[in-house]
Amino acid sequence: MANKIKVEHLAINYGNIKAVKEVSFEFKRGEITTLIGANGAGKTSTLKCIAGLLPAKSGKVIIDNGNMHIDITKMTPADRLRAKLALCPEGRGVFPNLSVFDNLMLGAYLNKDKKKIAALVEQQYEFFPKLGERRNQLSGTLSGGEQQMLAIARALMSEPEFLMLDEPSLGLAPVIVEQIFDKFVLLKKNGLGLLVVEQNASLALEVSDYAYVLETGEMTLNGTGESLLKDSRVQEAYLS
Ligand SMILES: Nc1ncnc2c1ncn2[C@@H]1O[C@H](COP(=O)(O)OP(=O)(O)OP(=O)(O)O)[C@@H](O)[C@H]1O
Ligand SMILES: [Mg+2]
Repeated sequence: MANKIKVEHLAINYGNIKAVKEVSFEFKRGEITTLIGANGAGKTSTLKCIAGLLPAKSGKVIIDNGNMHIDITKMTPADRLRAKLALCPEGRGVFPNLSVFDNLMLGAYLNKDKKKIAALVEQQYEFFPKLGERRNQLSGTLSGGEQQMLAIARALMSEPEFLMLDEPSLGLAPVIVEQIFDKFVLLKKNGLGLLVVEQNASLALEVSDYAYVLETGEMTLNGTGESLLKDSRVQEAYLS
């Protein structure tokens, strides 16, 4: 069973711009790991590169099964999904003119087993009852919180072991953000490894097992969520 994703000395460039400079970190199954950082720190670039949507300039992304290491740095995004690594992207990326159901189906595009797909859809409706009630509604007419739930559910349709989420709380009311983070805790208890990118650090750190701070492309701090919540540098920059 895969137990962690290791990112080693990962660098990402846009032309001559060094967006991410040799960062190393890891996230484990059964844990919530948070990556916090200001606008432009390189959070989205890091997640996209791990998902295979951006090339790495140098460095590696590895699935570490304990006794087996799979280097996925050069794999296509589809192969990374098959390797059980999924991304819930920044801005949610739901297709507004498709129904909730059709958006979910897109998340299972690699799966050819119709019965299994139907069961996975039902599983999402159970996990997010609002989506079940609105299964035939066009996604563009869902509330922001419902769209975020749909984006998460669509990522879950690929049955990931590792799930990366890019700013899932953006633009949502605090009560909705709490509901979504409660789901993350349930997913973690089911054995998923979550990597959550957040600018809104306090709630993310509260539920995090481990966290990293990214500043202008470099990891400047790391520790348990609890220890970073108490860190004066984190408090000044991200919790005020
Ligand atoms: N396609 C691109 N071309 C050139 N530069 C880019 C591109 N995408 C991102 N960058 C630059 O890379 C840096 C990191 O951007 P990135 O989107 O990864 O940051 P972020 O931490 O996710 O920021 P935010 O919190 O605003 O989402 C920024 O300086 C940004 O301008
Ligand atoms: Mg971003």
